[in-house]
Amino acid sequence: MSVVIKLGGSVITRKSEPFSTRSDVMSRLADEISEFLRGGGDHGVVLVHGGGSFGHSLVRECVEEIGYVNTQCFARVAFYMDFLNHLVTEALLASEIPAVRIPPRSICWGVGFGECDFSVVRRLMNSGVVPVLYGDVVLSGKEPKVLSGDDIVWYLTKSLSLRKVIFVTDVDGVYDKDPKLYKDARVLSNMRLSDALKEASFWEVPDVTGGMFSKLRKSLLLDVRDVTIYVVNGFIPNNLLNALKGKNVVGSVLWV
Ligand SMILES: Nc1ncnc2c1ncn2[C@@H]1O[C@H](COP(=O)(O)OP(=O)(O)O)[C@@H](O)[C@H]1O
Ligand SMILES: [Mg+2]
Repeated sequence: MSVVIKLGGSVITRKSEPFSTRSDVMSRLADEISEFLRGGGDHGVVLVHGGGSFGHSLVRECVEEIGYVNTQCFARVAFYMDFLNHLVTEALLASEIPAVRIPPRSICWGVGFGECDFSVVRRLMNSGVVPVLYGDVVLSGKEPKVLSGDDIVWYLTKSLSLRKVIFVTDVDGVYDKDPKLYKDARVLSNMRLSDALKEASFWEVPDVTGGMFSKLRKSLLLDVRDVTIYVVNGFIPNNLLNALKGKNVVGSVLWV
């Protein structure tokens, strides 16, 4: 079964420190993906990663100073996202994963669904290569816009008819309440996504691309169906591997 894995910016970078990565976490997650691939079976894997402290702070600066993403911002965000992608891909290669970068800005002509051509991604997956995409700046007509890694995940899922999505993030899953304020907050799991979204009353938005709520709701907006969604904590060793193997995880397992 083919799977899309989103490596959250909050896991592979330190969001509060500009341009700082968590290379140890990147390496361990790469090892887990590698172990899964080496376990055999006909698995296609496509990876998407977030911007974390490489993309978000630059975008915020641009939007706060001039109100939109101009060509200078476009070029700078593109450069730093490629740079972060280089480090992610390097970690994947070190774990012997045949990872190849696909910059979304070169296959998308807008930021909406249906405005990317994923045929090269499909061809790479069919030949056993692991394509790596990321949150990026994309020209929408003549205007530079931000296309979040989360949106790319759902566009890929829908376009390539994938059945499994794993969000590797910095929390233990989707909570019903803020766990920092409520001791009885619990992780919503083993239910339909629409029910989880109804039950949760807390949606803190940590950065420019929206956080957990927009991450998940987008699948409903796009009418994605027959997909199992894992939201797992990437700081816990083997959690991603267990999600890949369909075993128990620290996290949420949700269905659409
Ligand atoms: N109900 C919720 N359950 C869990 N996390 C939530 C919830 N609402 C908002 N969040 C926030 O979403 C964050 C994870 O989303 P995000 O920062 O976009 O992750 P990433 O970009 O690394 O995938 C958490 O750190 C938390 O602050
Ligand atoms: Mg995010």
